[in-house]
Amino acid sequence: MTPMTFMGHPRGLATLFFTEMWERLSYYGMRGLLILFLVDTLRGGYGLDDKTAAAIYGLYTASVYLLAVPGGWLADRILGQRTAVFWGGVLIACGHFSMAVGPVALFYLGLTLIALGTGLLKPNVSAMVGDLYPEGGARRDAGFSVFYMGINLGATIGPLLCSYFGEKINWHLGFAVAGVGMVFGLIQYRLGARHLGTAGELRGVTPAQRSAAISTAGKFGLFVLALGGVVAALHLMGIYLVNPQGIASVMSVSIPFFLLAYFAYQFLFGGFDAAEKKRLAVVLILCAASAVFWGGYEQAGSSLNLFAMRATDLFIFGYEIPAGWIQSLPAVFVILLAPVFGWLWIKLEKHEPSVPAKFAYGLAQLALSFFVMAWAGTFVTQAFKVSIMWLVVTNFLATTGELCLSPVGLSGMTKLAPRKIVGQMMGMWFLATSLGNLLAGMAAGYTEALGYVQLFSLVGAVVMGAAVLLGITAPPIRKLMGGVE
Ligand code: PHE
Repeated sequence: MTPMTFMGHPRGLATLFFTEMWERLSYYGMRGLLILFLVDTLRGGYGLDDKTAAAIYGLYTASVYLLAVPGGWLADRILGQRTAVFWGGVLIACGHFSMAVGPVALFYLGLTLIALGTGLLKPNVSAMVGDLYPEGGARRDAGFSVFYMGINLGATIGPLLCSYFGEKINWHLGFAVAGVGMVFGLIQYRLGARHLGTAGELRGVTPAQRSAAISTAGKFGLFVLALGGVVAALHLMGIYLVNPQGIASVMSVSIPFFLLAYFAYQFLFGGFDAAEKKRLAVVLILCAASAVFWGGYEQAGSSLNLFAMRATDLFIFGYEIPAGWIQSLPAVFVILLAPVFGWLWIKLEKHEPSVPAKFAYGLAQLALSFFVMAWAGTFVTQAFKVSIMWLVVTNFLATTGELCLSPVGLSGMTKLAPRKIVGQMMGMWFLATSLGNLLAGMAAGYTEALGYVQLFSLVGAVVMGAAVLLGITAPPIRKLMGGVE
């Protein structure tokens, strides 16, 4: 019997494709509602001020990617990816339903569960895709391209569904729809598991190593609980009042500090030779650039979402679309443009830009997208909302930026990192992404204080600054890569 295939790929890819599609559907669907719900005063939202709402959004989206680091570790040493993905999905579904119920405590519990669940699911479902192609090479790359379409298909449909139900009918119904999506994903994952072969099974870990890992995880868990307990006690005693803005500020300083400390440690004590150290330096530069990039890009769900709701004329042929529908645009553009970029890089052949140059182009396009928004902001008044076309153009530019930077970023990590710390380097990349998401949230807190024009020009200027810096230094950085392309 010939094995079943999925677009010329192993049938297991379909299972992972749809699992990730449903997961991203729930993630982006709910995310499209989140900040709008938090600031809403008219339809049963929490009516928070912009700064607090933005901090919550930032903390949530940052945690989702931050927890991918322990999530990957747990799967590698204790659970195996296959089990981690399943329980991750269960936590995510429970999280969305918890948010759907209503009471404030359950809402925040829900956000926590989704962050924990995504940390378990997202890095490991991708790792399993790699596992389907033990031979690696071009077929694996093609498999990841198909998988990337699954991500963006989910990210297209999620906001369409959740924002319709959430904004037009009831916020909590929107959250519930996200949960239902994840349940479909889980059912599909279970039914399709038989096509996965050995992908994602726990391998190469002896029972003794596993027990040691369980004990480490237990100690770490206790430490986190104790830390939480201390903070809660300080809060109850009125010594330190826990507030989202405060935590976001602490995190925005501690993540870069941790990143730098980690790299300094590897530099000094990692025992790497000169060539490896040079490549490590490149990885650090790319991580920093990535944090800046996501810090702008992920404002799609924060400041640009607020802009869509408050300052954009959302009527199309007489029907007022939900603001969150705009959130589908980047994913639609990725689906349409990814093949174009794939073709472009092949066409350019030896003129294909180097990794740092692609990063610089990516950042520059993102910066342009913010200048477009700043321009749009100049037309906004109390009585006048701008055309939706501004956001369409902005999202188009941000997406072309993403397609220059994101795919090469991940594969660059795997190629540049010294072999024995590839996994940790992926963790650092997720950490940089997490920082970017946090900054993207916090930035949205300044829409009221600064106004659209100032905020968006400032973001555009910072991102453009990074682009120029990287653009100028791209040739020497390329030298540091020592022949890795
Ligand atoms: N659209 C991407 C996704 O959801 C964004 C992303 C990039 C997330 C890199 C994590 C890491 O997968």
